[in-house]
Amino acid sequence: MYSSSVSVHVVEHPLVHDALVTLRDAQTAPELFRRMAVRISLLLAAEATRDLPASPVTVQTPLGAAQGRTVSADVVVVPVLRAGLGMLDAILELIPSARVGHIGLQRDEATAIASQYYSKLPKGLANSVVLMIDPMLATGGSAVAALDHLQQAGARDIRMICIVAAPEGVELVQKHHPGVRIYTPAIDRQLNDHKYIVPGLGDFGDRLYGTL
Ligand code: PRP
Ligand code: URA
Repeated sequence: MYSSSVSVHVVEHPLVHDALVTLRDAQTAPELFRRMAVRISLLLAAEATRDLPASPVTVQTPLGAAQGRTVSADVVVVPVLRAGLGMLDAILELIPSARVGHIGLQRDEATAIASQYYSKLPKGLANSVVLMIDPMLATGGSAVAALDHLQQAGARDIRMICIVAAPEGVELVQKHHPGVRIYTPAIDRQLNDHKYIVPGLGDFGDRLYGTL
């Protein structure tokens, strides 16, 4: 079993769980599924960026000077294709200046082993806060492959945001990347024989894009 460490943040916000039940519901059609994916991703990203470095600024309101803070971190968002794309717009809405990298990974339908088919990452990841977004953390094979790749590219501060996790996936990420923080609202019961999360929500990419 995975260790209950500070690197796993189970997000309990009621609005997150309200969106999650709609995503889980087998009756939810792609249009609503996409909207809920954006909504939940916004809320999860807000949680994952709570400690983002910020600099003090002063602005003039119509009535005088006001102190404030602006985000000073270089943020890089990395969706894991294809399903991670359903979360990207939400993060860019929150952090419009973020740079975007892409990693393409596909699980083999028979073995559930992920192989990489694409990568394009921004430079200078060593000084960036990297938000890796992939809605499903099942066996953890895709996540570990993506994290290995990001680490080889120099990334040091990596936070993974997912929508449903399985205990096996959390354990594998913790074993290979103990420094990576995982943000998720749900760690479900188990994987089935086909390595799908149970109860989970089914195949996220297929439900997002209507390719069932
Ligand atoms: C899904 C999901 C993860 C992966 C999780 O992608 O988006 O990337 O499976 O499974 P794992 O933890 O067992 O590796 P999939 O390979 O189905 O590709 P898709 O995003 O193109 O649909
Ligand atoms: N990928 C998905 O989309 N769903 C799962 O349950 C497991 C992997």
